Amino acid sequence: MRDINLKDAINAVSDVVQNRPRPLRDFDQIYMKTGDMVLQSELVARWAKGKRLAFIGDGDAISVCVALLQARDIFDEGPDEITVFDFDERICSAIERFADYAGITRLTARLYNCAEALPSDVIGKFDCFYTNPPWGASNGGESVKAFMQRGLEVTGYAGEGLVVIADDHDRDWPQFVLAEAQKFALASDQYVQKMHSKMHLYHLDDAPELRSCNLFIRALPGDRATPISNPLEQDRLANFYGRGQPLTIRYVREKKRVDYGKAHDEEYSIESMEG
Ligand SMILES: C[S@@+](CC[C@H](N)C(=O)[O-])C[C@H]1O[C@@H](n2cnc3c(N)ncnc32)[C@H](O)[C@@H]1O
Repeated sequence: MRDINLKDAINAVSDVVQNRPRPLRDFDQIYMKTGDMVLQSELVARWAKGKRLAFIGDGDAISVCVALLQARDIFDEGPDEITVFDFDERICSAIERFADYAGITRLTARLYNCAEALPSDVIGKFDCFYTNPPWGASNGGESVKAFMQRGLEVTGYAGEGLVVIADDHDRDWPQFVLAEAQKFALASDQYVQKMHSKMHLYHLDDAPELRSCNLFIRALPGDRATPISNPLEQDRLANFYGRGQPLTIRYVREKKRVDYGKAHDEEYSIESMEG
């Protein structure tokens, strides 16, 4: 890839950030900081060049950044096709509306809860997946494994994956979760290709210094049968979003269309000058 024009790239990512729904902390929507989004998008565009890329959850909107930067010719390469699977209708709708407004045809979104079996038409239909899942602090990484499993299923266990999870050497839980994620990859006929340690920061008020890493996994060589996707067992849903916060909901529904870049009516009132 040629050198990118940083100002154009930051301005494009700024357009994406304006379009993001406000994060729901209860479901671990905690957005990546903008500077890290620019660098992450470039990395993803290179990594998934010419591929069919699935995002398992994407509140950060890295998918939109990758597609937009390519459409605006700021990146000269990137994936051929991007589909986002997310259980939040606000996120799926915001992605589809933005793609429509920006004339991006390679980007689509589908409402999907990873607790449920994948629709059969997407199993094995992608070359690679990206996920930034709930980081599994209170469930030993089970939520990370659930999102990874769906990513592996859409690639038919025969592609590549980029898993973005917590990476902090001063806390114990991220190190255990990283080990669990790697064990899960190995047990799923994948190997860990590389890891970029402590790469990204988040708008996380109670732990602003907590970073995440990029964990790259890749399928071992060999032919595989198309996998069968099943719903997650009940015990895997416990403490999914934190202690005492199991995964029980199916979808977050959009109540009304919101223009996310503008103030909501409920946020302010107008006081006139007395004439
Ligand atoms: C869990 S958050 C992780 C933090 C990440 N930085 C973000 O905010 O996007 C990632 C995405 O997964 C989605 N998500 C959470 N639980 C899900 C579920 N059960 N099925 C599908 N998507 C889910 C959220 O809506 C969000 O967009």
